[in-house]
Amino acid sequence: MDNKIVKLAPSILAADFARLGEQVMQAERAGADRIHVDIMDGHFVPNLSMGAPIVQSLRRVTGLHLEMHMMISDPDFFLDEFVEAGSDSFLVHWEGNNNLHRTVQRVKALGKRVGVVINPATPAAALEEILQDVDQVLVMTVNPGFGHQHFIHTTLPKIRRVRQMIDEIRPGCELEVDGGIDATTAPLVVDAGANVLVAGSAIFSESEGVIAAMKRLRAAVGKIDT
Ligand code: DX5
Ligand code: ZN
Repeated sequence: MDNKIVKLAPSILAADFARLGEQVMQAERAGADRIHVDIMDGHFVPNLSMGAPIVQSLRRVTGLHLEMHMMISDPDFFLDEFVEAGSDSFLVHWEGNNNLHRTVQRVKALGKRVGVVINPATPAAALEEILQDVDQVLVMTVNPGFGHQHFIHTTLPKIRRVRQMIDEIRPGCELEVDGGIDATTAPLVVDAGANVLVAGSAIFSESEGVIAAMKRLRAAVGKIDT
């Protein structure tokens, strides 16, 4: 995997659910690398979103990698169901998971890619003992639970620290960011070392449409692969 190539992961949380298939197909045509699916349980985060049936429907309309961002209290309990529905990878939170290593190993045993997520207040150092076991790190650049939030700029030095850790401990591990990513903040996170950008409202809520919005984001970072 080439970490110099910046990838776009549209988050369907901001999509028009009545036209979900159509919008995902547009994102695919516009060069999306994967589809980011936010799973929320109203407990781990104060919001509800979607479950495995949505993944099953998406699987029928796209060949893109489907990435699950598990914002739920007991991710282990739902893994099999999401795998059966067609999920390709799981991003599990460091926060509140006393058995993170076990969760990571379970995802791997299911033959899927796995990443660990850290919230804005969680230090980069929390990744030290788990980094060698994962394919991805996701640094939250907003507090999880909602789309359309403002990017938290104090996460930038942490992204740099995580990039340094990855280069030292686990080269090839992807560094993804999620929350408040748009044409203004995308260059900042790429400069700090991120190579996968999740974007919801900057892709699905723009009046110009999905294809033009993705083009604009790509132009903002200059070196996104298509
Ligand atoms: C927030 C979610 C994000 C969200 C990002 O908890 O994890 O994936 O969809 O939305 P925007 O890009 O609008 O900040
Ligand atoms: Zn997310």
